[in-house]
Amino acid sequence: QMRNVLNKLADSVKDEEKRQRFENELDSFFSLFRRYLIEKSQSNNALDWEKIKSPNPEEVVSYAKIDPELADNTENLSKLAVLKLNGGLGTSMGCVGPKSVIEVRDGNTFLDLSVRQIEYLNRNYDSDVPLLLMNSFNTDKDTEHLIKKYSSNRIRIRSFNQSRFPRVYKDSLLPVPTEFDDALDAWYPPGHGDLFEALHASGELDALIAQGREILFVSNGDNLGATVDLKILNHMLDTGAEYIMELTDKTRADVKGGTLINYDGQVRLLEVAQVPKEHIDEFKNIRKFKNFNTNNLWINLKAIKRLVESSTLEMEIIPNQKTIIRGGHEINVLQLETACGAAIRHFNGAHGVVVPRSRFLPVKTCSDLLLVKSDLFHLQHGALVIDEDRFGPNPLIKLGSHFKKVSGFSARIPHIPKIVELDHLTITGNVFLGKNVTLRGTVIIVCSDGQKIDIPNGSVLENVVITGNLQI
Ligand code: UTP
Repeated sequence: QMRNVLNKLADSVKDEEKRQRFENELDSFFSLFRRYLIEKSQSNNALDWEKIKSPNPEEVVSYAKIDPELADNTENLSKLAVLKLNGGLGTSMGCVGPKSVIEVRDGNTFLDLSVRQIEYLNRNYDSDVPLLLMNSFNTDKDTEHLIKKYSSNRIRIRSFNQSRFPRVYKDSLLPVPTEFDDALDAWYPPGHGDLFEALHASGELDALIAQGREILFVSNGDNLGATVDLKILNHMLDTGAEYIMELTDKTRADVKGGTLINYDGQVRLLEVAQVPKEHIDEFKNIRKFKNFNTNNLWINLKAIKRLVESSTLEMEIIPNQKTIIRGGHEINVLQLETACGAAIRHFNGAHGVVVPRSRFLPVKTCSDLLLVKSDLFHLQHGALVIDEDRFGPNPLIKLGSHFKKVSGFSARIPHIPKIVELDHLTITGNVFLGKNVTLRGTVIIVCSDGQKIDIPNGSVLENVVITGNLQI
């Protein structure tokens, strides 16, 4: 039945070239969907917890132990291409359009910072590293418009689109769209695991290989710490590894991230969604599973080609349920996604490198935004560098629901406070910060419903709890 509906969908396209690409997409969707149904019907498909072992020492290498002299070899930049995952929207931070166009630092968007980093690299080392953007149907138009401003810069930017898959009704499992041009919310981008197929289908993979590029450095568009690292690049070429995943040590704040394991003698990524309920606490134990995936990945391009062309790049399916509004009704839909970290087990010599926390600086919330906009960092050629007077981990910042959207955040914190000496900040409720505010130690500001707290210009708050007008 699914096949028939998909064929009808394909028939709704008149243009031959468009139709070809769409048919390929629907074929990929169909095989993902079929695999989902098969796996769902097999109860023995779950991981056997007893077989999960800590990775061998050669499967997880410490960055500090890699020869520092490798950072001096810049020749291999001719073998590198950089790719930013740019399919996601800024909806979780209350923004419309691609997440990468949110302003994060000194008037620069995520995208501006990535461009500036690569431009500097190319200028400094006289290299020609290209920047690729993997967009989705949700982000391509805005992104294309934005990157026009770089057309005369010293950087080659290439963009391509990932697949567009049909959402399915949760109950009937039949596709939501009935024609190619159906509304946007009938479709979804199937997660960053789509990278391999999309890179191949777009022709960019072959083009990179033809240019002599060997390695692709992939990272989330919202990870400001993901800069090109020569030590890892050269280590990868020296070891001949086809895939390197940058990991970083877990703290109690990030217990949920996927971790590398040895399973049946093979390196694999273990995500929380795959962990049986009774073992969740064990999974979150930071002593047993010490580090997690930053999604900074170094991948050999010829290996991608080999694996895509032999259709052997299966990644664990992540079912994601959503509610959309159609014809005035709420309907439950299902979308099947994959993540590119899960592909690690298919690559030869794949291993993890445990990198310093500074290479993982994601901006997922406005609390993260406060951090990266603050005096704790300064911009250096598009990269954020931490203040040298700062010791220990970054402050723990928790902003309440009034700060969920960037608009609410910017209205209430129009001037970023000084936080070099801050350890912990919690703000909940309708709180407004004035200019030149300094926060030190632990600061907690709690405003009850219907009230408003104004922190005056120039305030210095150190180890205080402020509730309403009451100061303790
Ligand atoms: P996510 O939205 O998946 O963030 O986007 P996450 O869940 O915190 O991170 P992961 O999945 O554990 O790594 C991560 C990056 O992937 C891009 C987003 O734009 C973002 O840069 N992305 C996500 C795509 O390019 N395509 C997708 O289909 C999904």
